[in-house]
Amino acid sequence: MELEFAAPCLFGLESLVSKELKALGAEKVAAENGRVRFAGDEYLLARANLGVRYAERIFVVLGSFTAHTFEELFQGVRALPLENWIGRYDAFPVAGHTLNSDLFSVRDCQSIIKKAAVERLKEKYGISWFEETGARRQLRFSILKNRVDLYLDTSGEPLYKRGYRTQANEAPIRETLAAAMCALSQLRPYHTLYDPMCGSGTILIEGAMLAQNIAPGLRRRFAAERFEQIPETVWKEERARALAEIRPAPDFAAIGSDIDEAALEIARENARRAGVSEAVHLARADVRAFAPETQHGTVVTNPPYGERMQTRRAAAEILRALGRVFPQRHGFSYSVISPEPDFEALFGRRADKSRKLYNGMLKCRLYMYYK
Ligand SMILES: C[S@@+](CC[C@H](N)C(=O)[O-])C[C@H]1O[C@@H](n2cnc3c(N)ncnc32)[C@H](O)[C@@H]1O
Repeated sequence: MELEFAAPCLFGLESLVSKELKALGAEKVAAENGRVRFAGDEYLLARANLGVRYAERIFVVLGSFTAHTFEELFQGVRALPLENWIGRYDAFPVAGHTLNSDLFSVRDCQSIIKKAAVERLKEKYGISWFEETGARRQLRFSILKNRVDLYLDTSGEPLYKRGYRTQANEAPIRETLAAAMCALSQLRPYHTLYDPMCGSGTILIEGAMLAQNIAPGLRRRFAAERFEQIPETVWKEERARALAEIRPAPDFAAIGSDIDEAALEIARENARRAGVSEAVHLARADVRAFAPETQHGTVVTNPPYGERMQTRRAAAEILRALGRVFPQRHGFSYSVISPEPDFEALFGRRADKSRKLYNGMLKCRLYMYYK
């Protein structure tokens, strides 16, 4: 089955997503703003859901067309072969967004697309009422500069939900972003990874999974597992392949600390559920006393960010302390994500490299020091 796909991702991660999709065997990989398009078959659909670390979802592209009016939107959707994916009993909710387009009301676009889909399926199935009691086929639309893309979501829960997080602590970083920070920091399977403000342990766990090549989706299910278009054997084969590709990394260690014992308890449980607790070592400590004992280290961390005046001052104080406890040292690199515009001044050194990343809607930079 020849399929076209799109994988939305956090802004700034398009090139990482392109790279990982190519490594998984995707063809015609093309990065756009906040998403990557690619092509492949039903095996790739399963492999990408199980294996991508940096993308948020995997969509099948049902069609793309231009629409300036509701009538064009309606006719464009009605012309698409939706019956290939939506059965007569399936539920097919519609969600999406529009940006810089003549059609700007999301709610109106949603209802027009739903109506057009119903019209199409009415004709195909010869029925006038849809019970929608069957499997869920979530339709998603994106209207960007009057170009409409209609997608079928194959992931269900977003892919950053790996299935290991028990409870959230105060400000957990998104798993996809934590994994990307590790990759951008050139983390290798023989490194010692440090996160001295580890909270619920996301960076350590994602780093350990990356080091051991553990597919992030192995512990969860996907919407398309209920699609009869994708045979069960496809999922079985791809799960078996992902399991076979796990590589033990005996030299790897992830060392985490935090000032908050309750956060460490959550981190411990998350690491256990992710199957990486042997690699993850946790202890309570103040980052201001950070003094690693190894010769080499890859430090990747996400310090607190204060929204209010008082917490802002405390957060700035931590960044100053980081400048002291993360000295230039042979064998050590440091990557810190922060939305603080004065980060480098507070830290006390210009970064060797920095890169714009979004933590959800919050514009941040990853400041990297490796010289
Ligand atoms: C933004 S959160 C990190 C979230 C983490 N990346 C996660 O995914 O859960 C910042 C963390 O810094 C910790 N922290 C604050 N001050 C600290 C200090 N002086 N020493 C060590 N940890 C500290 C907080 O307890 C909190 O868990």
